[in-house]
Amino acid sequence: MVSTIVIGAQWGDEGKGKVVDLLAKDADLVARFNGGNNAGHTVVVDGKKYKFHLMPSGAVQGKRCLIGAGIALDPKVLKEEIEQLNWDKDPNLAIDPRTQIIMPWHNALDNAKEASKGDGKIGTTGRGIGPCYADRASRTGLRFCDLVDSKRLKEKIDREFEAKEKILKNVYNSEIPVSKEEIFAEYDALGKEFVKYYADVSKEVSTALEAGKNVLFEGAQGTFLDNDFGTYPYVTSSHPTAGAIFTGLGIGIRPIERIIGIVKAYTTRVGEGPFVTELKGKIGDSIREKGQEFGTTTGRPRRIGWLDLVLLRTSIRLNGFTEIALTKLDVLTGLEKIMVCTEYECEGKTCKELPADLDKLAECKPIYKEMPGFEMDSTATSMEQIPKEAQEYVAFIEKELGIKAKIVSVGPGRKETIVR
Ligand code: IMP
Repeated sequence: MVSTIVIGAQWGDEGKGKVVDLLAKDADLVARFNGGNNAGHTVVVDGKKYKFHLMPSGAVQGKRCLIGAGIALDPKVLKEEIEQLNWDKDPNLAIDPRTQIIMPWHNALDNAKEASKGDGKIGTTGRGIGPCYADRASRTGLRFCDLVDSKRLKEKIDREFEAKEKILKNVYNSEIPVSKEEIFAEYDALGKEFVKYYADVSKEVSTALEAGKNVLFEGAQGTFLDNDFGTYPYVTSSHPTAGAIFTGLGIGIRPIERIIGIVKAYTTRVGEGPFVTELKGKIGDSIREKGQEFGTTTGRPRRIGWLDLVLLRTSIRLNGFTEIALTKLDVLTGLEKIMVCTEYECEGKTCKELPADLDKLAECKPIYKEMPGFEMDSTATSMEQIPKEAQEYVAFIEKELGIKAKIVSVGPGRKETIVR
């Protein structure tokens, strides 16, 4: 069987949830390996919208869903998500004991740090992601194995609460909004509730791969939010790139047959940071409205721009994509002309890949190819049924990038998809 990695090729929100849902039908396991509830995946089935933050999107198909050690897990959010989804049976979920837990002081620190930065803020989702991963790196984090052990949980809360309270008070003139005792009571109850999901995900995925099972690896966020290779510091604190499946789940390095880059037919980003093809006027506003480009997690309006092939070329190299899935093509309908950025002008030269230095990136200017617009709806089931100009748009992207778009999404629903 073919195992598959699904990765956001841009800055997140490319429509990974829909593609994961589509592929999950044939998967034995669906595993998440990075990020936390900063993610927001939307899956639409028969007009019903499912919004996920933590739960792998394979849950809609009733698949076994795994949360790997590389995740930052907010157990309060997981509880809400399970309740809101209103499943008639318990989700078939496994959480690795090594998974980091987001605690209330992480949210408090995330917000206090952002507020203290003024104009230099990153524009985080405020979900405590950065401080939680910082604690992992500092070796002071709480993990799922601590959450389910009352004695250890109490010891760690006692220690961390004091330390974080001091930082919040003395550095940020802020505080943890709940008492240590309340935190213990709430998190101890969550640990007792979730202990049934305790499972060694690292072993389970390794064994499944050795047995030739089909594992679907579901990335969250997008390549350019990668903590190392994204537009640092305007990035998240995990690794949304394909290589992270090995470290985020704890499996040995091996070839994975299909690595799909999810590419939105235009570009969006949420939060601060350079955006070479950004559209600030009416065209951007109309794409935002048509594409419903508002954050699933925070509701923030997303910044909009033309498709950027410089970004995508870099993304293909960083992830080793074997194919792409082009999403939201229908959103471009009705535009008179469509621009595609093929190269940047950077320090008097042209460049085909993203410069590593953010200050240089901020100075880059887009070089565009103009393409004719098209009118289309979401009913097409084959490429022949979409307008000639839209076919040319897809063909141009494939040719410039040297990669095939094997899935083309023409609407939010499961059926509104062309599989080639
Ligand atoms: P954090 O992950 O909350 O620390 O936010 C860091 C940056 O990543 C901010 O610009 C966020 O808007 C962005 N970000 C985090 N998660 C997502 C996502 O799932 N989609 C798009 N942007 C995200």
